[in-house]
Amino acid sequence: MARWVILMCLLLSIVEARGRRNGNVFDVRDYNALASGNTDDTKAFMSAWKDACKTEGKTTFVIPSGTYMLNPIVFSGPCNGQITFELKGTLTAPTNNPSSDTTWINFRYLDHITVNGGGKLDGQGTSAWGRKNGNPLLMGLGFAFVNNSNVNNIQSVNSQNAHISMYQCENITLSHITITAPSNSPNTDGIKMAKSKGININDVHIATGDDCIAMITGTKNVNISNVYCGPGHGISVGSFGSNTDEFDIQDIYVKSCTFNATSHGVRIKTWPTALTHPLKASNIVYEDITIVDVSLPISIDQEYCPSNKCGKKVSSGVKISNISYRNIKGTSKGDVAIAFKCSESNPCQNISLENIDLKRKRPRRHRTLKNLCFNVRGASRGIQEPKACW
Ligand SMILES: *[C@@H]1O[C@H](CO)[C@@H](O)[C@H](O)[C@H]1NC(C)=O
Ligand SMILES: *[C@@H]1O[C@H](CO)[C@@H](O)[C@H](O)[C@H]1NC(C)=O
Ligand SMILES: *[C@@H]1O[C@H](CO)[C@@H](O)[C@H](O)[C@H]1NC(C)=O
Ligand SMILES: *[C@@H]1O[C@H](CO)[C@@H](O)[C@H](O)[C@H]1NC(C)=O
Ligand SMILES: *[C@@H]1O[C@H](CO)[C@@H](O)[C@H](O)[C@H]1NC(C)=O
Ligand SMILES: *[C@@H]1O[C@H](CO)[C@@H](O)[C@H](O)[C@H]1NC(C)=O
Repeated sequence: MARWVILMCLLLSIVEARGRRNGNVFDVRDYNALASGNTDDTKAFMSAWKDACKTEGKTTFVIPSGTYMLNPIVFSGPCNGQITFELKGTLTAPTNNPSSDTTWINFRYLDHITVNGGGKLDGQGTSAWGRKNGNPLLMGLGFAFVNNSNVNNIQSVNSQNAHISMYQCENITLSHITITAPSNSPNTDGIKMAKSKGININDVHIATGDDCIAMITGTKNVNISNVYCGPGHGISVGSFGSNTDEFDIQDIYVKSCTFNATSHGVRIKTWPTALTHPLKASNIVYEDITIVDVSLPISIDQEYCPSNKCGKKVSSGVKISNISYRNIKGTSKGDVAIAFKCSESNPCQNISLENIDLKRKRPRRHRTLKNLCFNVRGASRGIQEPKACW
């Protein structure tokens, strides 16, 4: 018996050593990840990451097919090489977050990380959304202080909170990603970013219960193209401009996107609260946008105050300027195509409308589609359907 155990141990350690030495490939199965779907594999992932992060040169961290239960986990750098996090299997989140952490899968302090592999993140939101107390509902995939990185070819389903978030990141490309959650799931933003710049988002399909994309405080130089949003609350700049310490949002380019059955399409939202320092949102272009049965296709709302959470309303201190809407076509589900509710103390400036062609989904007698404009100045050219405010 004892000899048999020794032999097995020897054999196992040979297999393990081979796995670890196999080029710079670190496979979580070689670190005793069980992939049973309901046993905690967090420790195995952590040990594999430690070894991968120490290794110089190009390194692959592999998660083979199978279902792995992980508690909140931090893949932290700086690392010695460039890591590809190859997710082929499915990761499942705990339905009851056992910690006070707010993000489930965290990447931090990294340069040149790639996340890919065709696998899936399952946030288990369906059993968490209704929960009234306990630990925080988890954001799915979080990048903080990460530069020069790529995320592509992965799926995120039913995140408990936002699906993908970026905080203080620079030069990140997200592409070929599918994000799915029900239209009535709370706070399940698709992709959310703050204090980040140099962000590319291409070929992404988002169906969710909140904003498909939200760009909040300090977001700069973002290109978004070929994003399909629906259901969801649209692609948003903001909300921002509440009384916390915030930064400007600028240089945002949204091109060739489709909104299908969303509450909003292209949207800018700021709070009606007093600011300790002035803020601006500027140089934003929306181009070649397809609108299908959207309740409010184009909006700037400087009185954004969901469930009256802003106390005494004052005119927004955010200055909005240089916003261009070009080639926006389709059908509106509500009575308003464009709603510009700008700040009285900081009117919107240089808002340009070119070739706007929006029709009511079902034409009704006595109810034609219209635009609403307050405290806004701009120019219009080409088709203006419904009739432009200026
Ligand atoms: C990311 O870039 C910023 C700005 O250049 C820099 O301050 C930070 O140290 C970089 N982070 C990493 C992990 O390389
Ligand atoms: C981001 O990319 C720009 C343009 O290629 C480059 O100048 C900048 O140094 C990059 N940022 C970081 C943190 O590497
Ligand atoms: C976005 O596109 C513009 C022009 O097409 C380019 O100048 C800018 O560097 C791009 N930004 C990013 C983050 O790739
Ligand atoms: C919009 O969604 C409906 C219902 O899912 C679908 O039948 C239709 O093809 C979609 N339209 C576009 C342009 O994606
Ligand atoms: C108005 O904004 C557009 C970009 O949206 C910019 O190209 C143009 O130069 C701006 N005009 C003025 C007068 O600021
Ligand atoms: C608006 O665009 C013009 C022309 O490109 C530029 O000079 C001005 O700085 C922009 N305004 C803001 C607030 O960025």
